[in-house]
Amino acid sequence: MTTLKAALEVTARDLNDELARLLPVSEGPEGRLQEAMRYATLDGGKRLRPFFVLQTARLFNVAEQAALRTAAAIELVHCYSLVHDDLPAMDDDDLRRGRPTCHKAFDEATAILAGDALLTKAFEVLAGPATHSDPQVRSDLVVELAQASGDHGMVGGQMFDLMAESLEMDVAAVTRLQGLKTGQLIRFSCEAGAILGKAPWQQRQALRAYAHDVGLAFQITDDILDVEGDPGQVGKGLRKDAEAGKATFVSLLGLDRARHQAEMLSDQAINHLACFDAKADLLREAARFVVERSL
Ligand code: IPE
Ligand code: IPE
Ligand code: MG
Ligand code: MG
Ligand code: MG
Repeated sequence: MTTLKAALEVTARDLNDELARLLPVSEGPEGRLQEAMRYATLDGGKRLRPFFVLQTARLFNVAEQAALRTAAAIELVHCYSLVHDDLPAMDDDDLRRGRPTCHKAFDEATAILAGDALLTKAFEVLAGPATHSDPQVRSDLVVELAQASGDHGMVGGQMFDLMAESLEMDVAAVTRLQGLKTGQLIRFSCEAGAILGKAPWQQRQALRAYAHDVGLAFQITDDILDVEGDPGQVGKGLRKDAEAGKATFVSLLGLDRARHQAEMLSDQAINHLACFDAKADLLREAARFVVERSL
C-alpha cells in the first residue's frame, strides 16, 4: 500500500469517528433529520478535504483535536453541498458514494433540511472552544469557511453552474466557475492548517497557491471521470454533464488537452510546496492523486 493510500485510510477512519461523535441521534421527530445527516456524512467519500486540513495542520504542529474538528467542519459543509447538489431541482441524481442519494433514501424535504442542519453544524463545530484555545483563530476559521461556502464561494459557483447552461462559456469562464464551485472549499481545507498554526503569511500563501492548482486539477478530473469513469467505481451518476449541455474543461478542450492541463496543474501545485520540507510529501503525493484517481 502506498503511504498516501494508508494516510487516506487513517484520515477516513478518524474523521468518521469524529463525525459520528458530532452527530448524535436524539429521541423525537428531529431524530429523522439527524438520521439523514448521518446518512449523508458517515462511511463514504474520499475525505480529501479533511485530509488537506490534517496534512496542512501537521506542517505547523497543530494539536490533533483542533485539526480533526476543523476537518470535520469542512466535510460537513462538503456533504451538505452534495445533498443539495443531488436534489431534483439541481442535478437530480439518484446515486452518491455508491448509495441512493439522501432525498432518495429519505425524501426531498428531509434532504433539504439535512443539508441546512449540516451547514449550521459546521459553524457550531468551528466556533466551539474545543477547536482552538484562541478565539481569534476560531473567528478567522468561521469567516474563512463562510466566505468559501457562500455567494463568493461554493454556493455562488453552484449558481454559476446552473446559469452556465445558457451562457457562452470559454475556458476562462469555466475556470472561474470551477474556482468558486469546487476551488473555494479546497482552498479553505489547505489554508486551515495555516490558520490553526498561525503560520507565517508566506507559507499560508504557498498553501493557497497549492490549493488553487490542486482544486482546478481536481475538478478537471471530475469532469473527465464524468465522461470516461467506471460508474461502479465512481459511485455516482456519470455522463450527466454532456447530457445537461454543461460547459466543462472536457467539452471545451477535449479529453486529451483536459488531461494534460490537469497534469500541468498538478506539477505546478507541487512546485508551490518548495518552501516546505519532507513533512509536505503527502501533500505532494496528493497533488498527483487528484489527477490519477479513478473515483
Ligand atoms: C465531489 O467531490 C463533488 C465535487 C466537488 C466535484 P468528491 O469527489 O470529493 O466527493 P467525495 O467526498 O469523495 O464523495
Ligand atoms: C458539485 O459539482 C460540486 C458541489 C457540490 C459544490 P458536480 O455536480 O460536478 O459534482 P458531482 O459530479 O455531482 O459530484
Ligand atoms: Mg452539480
Ligand atoms: Mg452533481
Ligand atoms: Mg461532476
